[in-house]
Amino acid sequence: MILAIETTMDETGVAVVSSWDKRVRVWSNVKASSAEMHKKYGGVVPEIAAREQVKVILPVIKEVLETVREKKWEDELKEIEAIAVAYGPGMMGSLLVGVETAKVLASVWGKKLIKVNHLVGHVAANWIKERENTPVPELPAVSLIVSGGHTDLVVIDENNEWKWLGGTRDDAAGEAFDKSARLLGLSDYLGGVVIEKAMKEVGKEGMEWLRQEKIRLPRPMIGNKGLDMSFSGLKTAVLHEVEKLKKSGKWSEEKGRALAKEFNGAVVDVLVSKTERAIKIHQPKSLLVGGGVAANILLRERLERLAKEMEISFFKPEMKYCTDNAAMIGAGAVIKGKEEKIENLKAEPSLGVVD
Ligand code: KG4
Ligand code: ZN
Repeated sequence: MILAIETTMDETGVAVVSSWDKRVRVWSNVKASSAEMHKKYGGVVPEIAAREQVKVILPVIKEVLETVREKKWEDELKEIEAIAVAYGPGMMGSLLVGVETAKVLASVWGKKLIKVNHLVGHVAANWIKERENTPVPELPAVSLIVSGGHTDLVVIDENNEWKWLGGTRDDAAGEAFDKSARLLGLSDYLGGVVIEKAMKEVGKEGMEWLRQEKIRLPRPMIGNKGLDMSFSGLKTAVLHEVEKLKKSGKWSEEKGRALAKEFNGAVVDVLVSKTERAIKIHQPKSLLVGGGVAANILLRERLERLAKEMEISFFKPEMKYCTDNAAMIGAGAVIKGKEEKIENLKAEPSLGVVD
């Protein structure tokens, strides 16, 4: 069994997983978050995040070990063969808490140390299966990674070699959700969640307004041949619409909800179109998605439809394994972890998906 630690952003995640029949099984998965504290600042404050993580990491590790089989944590520890930790990308202060804790524990407890790329973890969440006889991704696979800090397309070949195909040149998809939510007055910590909620509540009036005024946000770079993406212009387009409405005294919450729906559609159109292009080029057996934005219902549906059209299988992580969690880091250790000497492991804040 593997004890996995994830502290790349504001969360302190710890999990115990094991590998069985090419699948990953989660025995315990706990997350402590300082999200509430960041809410009032409208974003993550690195200093607050790291201080909170220092406080909670050891109690969370004990709690996780004790929930596996309701044994004392000291007894459960004997079953642990390795400690896996997300070493990047992320915020330096937060990464240090996880990485240094993992190093000390691996050294004192005499366990193997496995380093896991956080982005690989997001993709590896697709191998977490609670039940037997559930299909697992077949390689080669194309994977879309969509998180708050990254938007990438990768291909994983039959030998589990990962190659970066393209990604955003500026804002990540999740970042665009977060910034646009704030512009639309839907300020909360996870922009994607509030945008989805707002668009579900849009009524006839909002939809009629979109149609009559022919409001259509741009789908940046959708027509370009390559697999590069860009989301910062889309956020600026939202800003212009909101400013125009406010200046003319025509702003209303309903229009904000309608714009949220249009925005969600624009992001998903771009992501699906680029993914389709990657599939056509690389002819994979499976399509995978991972990262916080992979929780988006429209994105999940549209990717599912795309895979069906392309006659390949589609895998999406369970909702609880989309946003940051430690179970996915355990899965990453099983799927593509690298054993590292304790003295050599370093936090790498700007690690790319293919290191
Ligand atoms: O992967 P993640 O938890 O953290 C990073 O590694 O960055 O992703 C967080 C991002 C946030 O930008 C959040 O707005 C977005 O995922 N997100 C969503 C949804 N849930 C979370 N975006 C769209 N739709 C969602 N349902
Ligand atoms: Zn993440």
